[in-house]
Amino acid sequence: MIVGAQWGDEGKGKVTDLMAERADSIVRFQGGNNAGHTIIRGDEVFKLHLVPSGILHPGTTCVIGNGVVIDPGVLIGELDELRRRGIDTLGLKISANAHLIMPYHLLLDSEGEAQLGELKIGTTKRGIGPCYADKASRLGIRVQDLLDEKILRKKIMTAMEPKRQMLRPFSRDPMLDLHTMTEAYLTFGHRLEPHIADTAALVWNDLQAGKDVVFEGAQGALLDIDHGTYPFVTSSNPIAGAACIGAGVGPTAIDDVWGIAKAYTTRVGSGPFPSEQFDDVADRIRDVGHEFGTTTGRPRRIGWLDLVAMKYASRLNGLTGLCITKLDVLSGIDPLRVAVSYRTADGAEFSEFPYHQSVLHHATADYVEMPGWQEDITGARSLDDLPEACRNYLDYISESLGVPIVLIGVGPERSQVILLGDRAAELA
Ligand code: IMP
Repeated sequence: MIVGAQWGDEGKGKVTDLMAERADSIVRFQGGNNAGHTIIRGDEVFKLHLVPSGILHPGTTCVIGNGVVIDPGVLIGELDELRRRGIDTLGLKISANAHLIMPYHLLLDSEGEAQLGELKIGTTKRGIGPCYADKASRLGIRVQDLLDEKILRKKIMTAMEPKRQMLRPFSRDPMLDLHTMTEAYLTFGHRLEPHIADTAALVWNDLQAGKDVVFEGAQGALLDIDHGTYPFVTSSNPIAGAACIGAGVGPTAIDDVWGIAKAYTTRVGSGPFPSEQFDDVADRIRDVGHEFGTTTGRPRRIGWLDLVAMKYASRLNGLTGLCITKLDVLSGIDPLRVAVSYRTADGAEFSEFPYHQSVLHHATADYVEMPGWQEDITGARSLDDLPEACRNYLDYISESLGVPIVLIGVGPERSQVILLGDRAAELA
């Protein structure tokens, strides 16, 4: 299992892409097209939001599990683009039980943010929150509903009814017309039908046959709706336990949980970020690391590596391995700082991630300083190729979290990695 150990955008797509070569199936289990993966293959750049990155590997089954929320227009757009570029997309399977993002979810997301004003969450405005809200309210439209016109029309009508008041300003929007919407979604249904399946059964069959299944999380632990920096979180659970629900497998099926973290920290959207920096170093990291959102293009907020937050993420996920990505971005920054505890305005110190939102909102980080390195490390392929300061930085992270490092990213290309340990060695 691959999960984000920070606030998302850790480089999960690249790690999954590496695993996809050996895996029999790749399964997404939560989130939607609020996520975004950029995969670089030689001169080609693929930007995917819904389709698991394994699609680039012929023969790998790619599953969009029941826990994902799907904007069918976006999904079809991605499939069209992949086909245009010669990629076979028949290996994509979509859970019949996954919920659909509807046009009114997009409007409600934007409206909700506008009404919150300064308190806005900074969502990706893709309708994710309102879609999960409808799922919990038992007003959701599911993928299987696309295959039955009568059911679809009735469900859309029922789902729109309680939203009438909030949607009043958009009453003339043709996409909100019941007939237009039903027709549009039926057309999506025709297009997606060959991909619709009982995905939990597919995954079960693969596991029973001893095949390799990779579960690919979206976002990160600190954006988890239960354990993250609520209310500045996404509306699903990006932590490892959620894969069981969002894919329909039992916890005993999971052998390994790898947490992905950048060598520094980023966050998009609002909310607490104790190790955030606003100086030249932050600007440099943003520029060198191309830290702009894959989905929204927003500049990401930048901070030092935060071991308090990562220790928390490690515990919530039960991490068995750590992948540190974008280590090359830190070359030339000296000294480096690593957050090891938080402090509140009245001087209280927290070595563990505080559960109380007002503590967290006013917390600043305390740091240890570590020597940086000047060398370009993008060509490193083993630990021995890394400067001593770089190895010390990695050792410090691993020892502080008590989790072994299994993969180090030293550049955007899929070959620019250092693989450690037995399971990672299998990827070489
Ligand atoms: P939503 O998921 O669009 O509702 O946005 C809720 C919060 O999660 C906002 O702060 C978003 O910026 C953040 N978020 C959602 N998806 C991602 C992601 O893939 N990477 C980073 N942040 C994300």
